[in-house]
Amino acid sequence: MPGLPDPPSEARRRFLLGTTAIGAGIAAVDALGAVAAPESNAGVPAGAYRVRFTLNGEPRDLALDPRTTLLDVLRENLHLTGTKKGCDRGQCGACTVIVNGRRVNSCLTLAVTLQGADVTSVEGLSTAGPHPVQVAFLQNDAFQCGYCTPGQVMSAVALLDEYKRGVPSHATRDVGSRAAMPLTDDEIRERMSGNICRCGAYVNIVKAVRDVAGRKGA
Ligand code: FES
Ligand code: FES
Repeated sequence: MPGLPDPPSEARRRFLLGTTAIGAGIAAVDALGAVAAPESNAGVPAGAYRVRFTLNGEPRDLALDPRTTLLDVLRENLHLTGTKKGCDRGQCGACTVIVNGRRVNSCLTLAVTLQGADVTSVEGLSTAGPHPVQVAFLQNDAFQCGYCTPGQVMSAVALLDEYKRGVPSHATRDVGSRAAMPLTDDEIRERMSGNICRCGAYVNIVKAVRDVAGRKGA
């Protein structure tokens, strides 16, 4: 209608909802866009916000500057340095963690958006011995310097779960048929493409993921 602005798109509506809620200090929007329950800020220093979430199975209750990223919370506040900072701008994947079952770049995730979320960092993979993906990386020499490896491992763990759930990728030929979605090397490379390795260990990373998936090499 002339004179009236277009209604906001769904993505913009969620963004506005999130910023309004955070500004008011009464609620937050989680990493998947769901509005979480209001949290009390009582007892929290001025300018900080209370954030409660689960990290590697344990509840966390933190008072944070709302500009703090999840990556900095992990490394600087909680001293969990397994998650690496490479680019700090969403380009390398070294900071990959899993939030509510989906992988995210923790350098691009504001911690205040994690109210009630379930977060797994690389430390949470090996509480009962090395995770099968970690074992496969070791057995296949899927790293050199190792700096990208925690992010690669977290991405591979999420990749295998996404694949089991039938989530297609850009390399999937027929998105309508689960049977026509074999985990080919192209699929693995595409699904791991958000994780950069400056040492170039890609060939063995693909082998490691293939091993865990139970597929024989081509
Ligand atoms: Fe997060 Fe590079 S440090 S993507
Ligand atoms: Fe060195 Fe990947 S093993 S950056």
